[in-house]
Amino acid sequence: MHGRNFFAGLLLLLLVVPVNRLSAEPAPGDILYEREDKSEIEAFPPSVFPHWLHRVRYRCDACHDSLFEMKSGATPVTMDLMKEGNVCGACHDGKAAFASSFQTCSRCHFAVEE
Ligand code: HEC
Ligand code: HEC
Ligand code: HEC
Repeated sequence: MHGRNFFAGLLLLLLVVPVNRLSAEPAPGDILYEREDKSEIEAFPPSVFPHWLHRVRYRCDACHDSLFEMKSGATPVTMDLMKEGNVCGACHDGKAAFASSFQTCSRCHFAVEE
């Protein structure tokens, strides 16, 4: 029972995270993408991937290892790959999940408070 309560609590926590966060702290389990070119990060905030939010919806093998390695930073992700229907774009295509558009940039990209 204990485990179940924890899970329900976590779900609640995820549900109260506001959708349009321009600046926020990452939720537990979020994966902050790093970019090699730091000047690009200054120009545009990197993406924060809410791992748990996806893990409650999908089985691990929906993503691992066909779309992503189980290791942070091991899989290259770019907007071009997404547009071709790879990586995040395999689902974020406007059908399974919201697509990339100027209304949705800030759902994936927001400045994280240090
Ligand atoms: C919707 C897609 C998706 C699902 C479902 C998913 N993951 Fe992931 N996972 C990712 C992405 C994206 C990353 C980050 C990869 C990167 O940083 O290059 C990741 C990273 C990881 C990592 C590495 C974390 C780290 O800090 O190095 C582990 C371990 C992992 N996932 C385990 C799991 C397990 C176990 C499940 C099932 C319970 C799961 N994942 C379900 C997409 C997913
Ligand atoms: C579904 C999530 C998602 C959406 C929506 C999204 N991005 Fe991204 N974007 C990513 C991920 C993941 C990366 C790779 C990690 C990083 O560099 O932040 C990325 C990378 C980038 C990069 C780095 C260079 C490149 O081309 O890969 C830029 C710039 C960028 N996105 C801009 C945008 C803009 C502008 C929008 C809205 C029109 C947008 N993104 C919408 C997830 C998203
Ligand atoms: C296996 C399918 C799948 C993959 C792969 C996937 N997503 Fe998602 N994602 C979803 C679904 C489904 C939702 C919830 C439905 C919606 O909001 O459209 C979602 C929701 C989100 C949200 C919304 C969180 C919020 O605050 O509402 C973000 C951010 C996000 N995904 C980022 C990413 C990024 C970044 C990647 C790639 C690193 C990625 N997703 C890969 C299916 C996926």
